[in-house]
Amino acid sequence: MGVNTTFTMIKPDAVSAGNAGAIMKIIQEAGFRIVAMKKTKLSSERAGEFYEVHKERPFYADLCSYMSSGAIIPMILEKENAVEDFRKLIGATNPKDAAPGTIRALFAKSIEANAIHGSDSDENAQIEGNFFFSAIERF
Ligand code: RTP
Ligand code: MG
Repeated sequence: MGVNTTFTMIKPDAVSAGNAGAIMKIIQEAGFRIVAMKKTKLSSERAGEFYEVHKERPFYADLCSYMSSGAIIPMILEKENAVEDFRKLIGATNPKDAAPGTIRALFAKSIEANAIHGSDSDENAQIEGNFFFSAIERF
């Protein structure tokens, strides 16, 4: 399988706890190359746009306020089999179910404040990367 890309974002709980560096080290040691990266903050509206697929879910309003509560670090990553391998590296949504050693097992505070996002398909990786980065921000 050839090299492909995924999209991730270190979430507000992990950035504010000072865990961004440790998380980036795990990501790089797992063989992902950082193609684009920045530190930024979402408004509640823009968080809602990012998680629009969840707008009918009961946790949507909480998710939008949590995701806009502090700084985030979005990144585009490149590796063979990037989407699937990255989902394995971060672990299950709920840290109680996340496999030992995964980023969420190590750093997530709760099912909502779960440290990190990972795209769930190649198509969403493209959409989500484009949400944060222009062509000239990718190297
Ligand atoms: P993500 O999209 O952030 O990578 O997370 P995921 O695929 O593992 O989980 P997803 O079902 O897409 O949910 C998106 C994010 O919403 C929050 N959430 N809260 N309170 C709840 O029951 C609940 N369920 C999900 C989490 O921040 C989750 O990552
Ligand atoms: Mg998801």
